[in-house]
Amino acid sequence: MGCSKMHKLFIVAVLTFSIASTALSCFTPQWDIFVISAIPNNIVVHIKSGDDDLGNHTIPFNENYTWSFCDRFVGQTVFYSYFWWGSRFKSLDLFNKNIEHICFLYNMHNQHCYWLVKPDGFYVSAYPDKLQTIIDHWD
Ligand SMILES: *[C@@H]1O[C@H](CO)[C@@H](O)[C@H](O)[C@H]1NC(C)=O
Ligand SMILES: *[C@@H]1O[C@H](CO)[C@@H](O)[C@H](O)[C@H]1NC(C)=O
Repeated sequence: MGCSKMHKLFIVAVLTFSIASTALSCFTPQWDIFVISAIPNNIVVHIKSGDDDLGNHTIPFNENYTWSFCDRFVGQTVFYSYFWWGSRFKSLDLFNKNIEHICFLYNMHNQHCYWLVKPDGFYVSAYPDKLQTIIDHWD
């Protein structure tokens, strides 16, 4: 009984840790997602998954919001988002099977996705200096 309770506490601690830090110890691939804004005004982003609500974050011009997670169910993890830029709005997936395919690099345990938010839309790449795949536009 005591042991199983400890085990549950440990799992809760690991899950909490998995969204609180970029220094994770994942058994499955670790993903670091960077959302970089190239919008001249502040934008606000709200990111969620089935389990996690990362809350509202303001991203000023040339700054980024970053989070990490362990991909426990490869091909099934989805993080969706809401973006506000003044009166402009967009809802899109920042991580799903398609995005995972675009960003996945072989022989890497620690995977990265770099989103660039521009006035003409949302770009993603596995590399910070190579952001040419446009995924979607502002509404
Ligand atoms: C998040 O920010 C948007 C845009 O500023 C706002 O409409 C929304 O109410 C905020 N949500 C929360 C939970 O604060
Ligand atoms: C994200 O912001 C941090 C803090 O300003 C900065 O050190 C880092 O280089 C930025 N990363 C990217 C990919 O822009």
